[in-house]
Amino acid sequence: MLNPDNLTAMLQATKRLGKSVLCYDEVGSTNTLAYRLAKEGAPEGLLITAERQTNGKGRGGKAWQSSKGDNLMFSLILRPKIEVQRAQLLPLLAADAVAQTATELLSKINGLRAMIKYPNDIMVDEKKISGVLLESRVGESVEFVVLGIGLNVNQTEFNAGVQETATSLRQLTARTFDRAAVLEKMIKMIDEKYDAFLRDDNDKLLLQGWKEKCTTLGREIRFEWNGQAMEGKAINIDRFGRLEIETVDERIVAAPSEILYIRPKHT
Ligand code: BTN
Repeated sequence: MLNPDNLTAMLQATKRLGKSVLCYDEVGSTNTLAYRLAKEGAPEGLLITAERQTNGKGRGGKAWQSSKGDNLMFSLILRPKIEVQRAQLLPLLAADAVAQTATELLSKINGLRAMIKYPNDIMVDEKKISGVLLESRVGESVEFVVLGIGLNVNQTEFNAGVQETATSLRQLTARTFDRAAVLEKMIKMIDEKYDAFLRDDNDKLLLQGWKEKCTTLGREIRFEWNGQAMEGKAINIDRFGRLEIETVDERIVAAPSEILYIRPKHT
């Protein structure tokens, strides 16, 4: 089981993240717990991990499934003092950091690269290895953001429903990974990118890094927008992380929360 004292020691050099850590054997959802603690005043950077979630949440009301003790499931509390719309870039920032971490781990072994499917699914070899779920409390300003991340590390068997579409670091390399070391690397990467994000409100570099990894841009896609099935070409993302799509008769600008089930058109 992950250990809070070890993790805090490993994360001593970060600027903000992982200064306090809570590790649970079992929770409903680390995001739900983090949200409650944030409402009660928990500090920026609090990291919550779980070996198992009984009600793990994915995007769009889906469940997040993960076998006990094999993977990483965690949430971070952030309290950025930024304009509300800019907070929409945080899941992209997280996806960029997770993809970069996964690529650094994989490329040494077998040259594989992790890519991003809009807005923040992390894919290797066209299979999903990680997902990001952002939940926030926002009024005139951002009160707090909960950034939840699930990364498949050592799981080798997946349920029938996701077997064809999910993968893990171990499945891709036939090696077992030290979860604490992977988490350390990932939190340090997020911390570094988050620090740059807070210090400078020019998001060009962040968006550029994200775009370089994104497999959705430039493609003909099928997608669901506000509950409606549609088709079009993904053209660009704007400075608030919204996807610009050209359909036969209009140009849509869709926020990450409005868009679901993106698939390439020709499959
Ligand atoms: C997705 O791709 O649908 C997002 C998945 C996010 C899963 C993580 S696991 C830790 C945190 N707690 C949750 O309940 N969900 C996120």
